[in-house]
Amino acid sequence: MERGLPKAYEEIARAHARPERVYVTRPAMPSLESFQAHVAGIWERRWLTNAGRLHGELEGRLAEYLGAPHLSLFCNGTIALLAALRLLKIEGGEVVTTPFTFPATAHALTWMGLRPVFCDIDPVTLNLDPGRIEAAITPETRAILPVHVYGIPCDVDAIQGIADRRGIRVLYDAAHTFGARFRGRALAAYGDAAMLSFHATKLFSTIEGGALVVPDAARKREVDLLKNFGIVDAETVAVPGINGKMNEFQAAFGLLHLEQVDREIAARRAIAQVYRDGLGEVPGITLPSEPADLEQNYAYFPIFVDPAAFGMSRDDLHRCMLWANIEPRKYFHPLCSRYPCYRELPSARPELLPVAERAAERVLCLPVYSELPLDAVRDVCALTRELQEAAGAG
Ligand SMILES: Cc1ncc(COP(=O)(O)O)c(C=O)c1O
Repeated sequence: MERGLPKAYEEIARAHARPERVYVTRPAMPSLESFQAHVAGIWERRWLTNAGRLHGELEGRLAEYLGAPHLSLFCNGTIALLAALRLLKIEGGEVVTTPFTFPATAHALTWMGLRPVFCDIDPVTLNLDPGRIEAAITPETRAILPVHVYGIPCDVDAIQGIADRRGIRVLYDAAHTFGARFRGRALAAYGDAAMLSFHATKLFSTIEGGALVVPDAARKREVDLLKNFGIVDAETVAVPGINGKMNEFQAAFGLLHLEQVDREIAARRAIAQVYRDGLGEVPGITLPSEPADLEQNYAYFPIFVDPAAFGMSRDDLHRCMLWANIEPRKYFHPLCSRYPCYRELPSARPELLPVAERAAERVLCLPVYSELPLDAVRDVCALTRELQEAAGAG
């Protein structure tokens, strides 16, 4: 694999090599003592899961922090997505979704016996292109499942307009949106329901975890039943629910993480600025969009490499960064539509998804997390610039 790259590139990379591996992200940890104090409380109460005290506390604080009053915690985001499909009675048919996402988006549909219909994305937002959604809708379509990729908003008005006209639901995969506010409102509060992920790799984490945001209290009550086997009381089981409960240890971690999340976002904002200053003028590199009306969360910092203008491909740039002990990730490559389980679907044909195909070939998510030293960020920028100069001239 590494054959074919000029020795000079490797030398440039080695000159910027970091002493320790720089990963694309790293979880910010609360202090061990603060977590141990919570664990001591859990031991004392002997209440480990099933809507415990810390679970209730975290749910209330998150609803307040996000400005999303009707929020239910889950053991992870994927189960929250399954519960949302059940809540909205999205059953037996097709769901229009994006191929430029994490596997869980399409897999949740498949687990519910639904067929994903992949639709191409917008070249700027990298989210579902509303201009193409209508054409993907058939009498079998039950819903639209868009993803606010990297915490960048979908065209929520256009998507809602299509759903209203066609009488179908909109369920957002809002896994990346923690803390992002769009037009003064939590990005996770749009649609008939929205899922958040609190996985360890996310900006806000409960180790594994997630939440579902719904528009009103009645639906939150339904969600709370669905995530606890449908159990109403000791002798009443009302609906075929699932086990989606968050336990007390996860909630404890979340309570502590929440205390530091504003610092996390501020540190990421500073990192994003260094990337913008350092990479803004590099030929062939496109930076992430900065939509109006969005308070960003800086969950990711994706760049897009145009091989002709940059002088080398995204994969070669990736390889050079690995030589420098820096590990960016190709989120999202390959597209979901390229997985063996989906590639035979009529909607998965690459020629129908040219924008998503190009994004998947060009994207590289650069390291961003609060403890990332700014000199590492400057190294990533310098390395990229020097490689472009060498490759562009070559
Ligand atoms: C876009 C997207 N959807 C769904 C998920 C699944 O969430 P979880 O890992 O919490 O199940 C993730 C991340 O893990 C994600 O990035």
